Amino acid sequence: VCIRQATVDDLLAMQSCNLMCLPENYQMKYYFYHILSWPQLLYVAEDYNKKIVGYVLAKMEEDAEECHGHITSLAVLRTHRKLGLATKLMTAAQQCMQEVFGAEYVSLHVRKSNRAAFHLYTETLGYRITDVEAKYYADGEDAYDMRKTLK
Ligand code: ACO
Repeated sequence: VCIRQATVDDLLAMQSCNLMCLPENYQMKYYFYHILSWPQLLYVAEDYNKKIVGYVLAKMEEDAEECHGHITSLAVLRTHRKLGLATKLMTAAQQCMQEVFGAEYVSLHVRKSNRAAFHLYTETLGYRITDVEAKYYADGEDAYDMRKTLK
């Protein structure tokens, strides 16, 4: 499996991976908005059959006081989990936020009940909880607002 920057030709496969893995889904125009604005911040994991098995969709928050990146969405297909792919996708996006865009930190939201993602963010990647957003998700679940300083 290789990790590489996404191209416009990957967007449909990224959307389909998102639909299989998460209840938070986006219209194709939102994927286009990301890749046209910050092409360096979208990565895919591709297996040897050229199938997309994971992605990270990220953006910059440019109007904010401190320039920072935001992870919009991350997922890896069930068949390819626990191989370190999410860690690699996240690391690639974080590095570009810092080097290309000069981000001070990176933020994201995660469901309180999402143990796998929470472990990845806190234990593997070094994110900290900065806030809890009550009823952030459409079904009423709370989100952890998490951040990691980039240096
Ligand atoms: N339970 C506990 N720990 C886990 C689990 C799990 N189910 N899955 C992974 N981990 C741990 C791994 O052991 C590893 O820990 P280590 O570094 O101590 O060895 C760490 O998390 C990272 O593992 P990776 O192999 O890099 O993660 P993976 O490629 O399996 O992907 C992901 C993790 C993205 C959370 C995957 O489970 C997934 O796609 N889940 C459904 C979609 C999802 O929840 N996405 C995140 C939503 S939040 C957002 O998008 C901003």
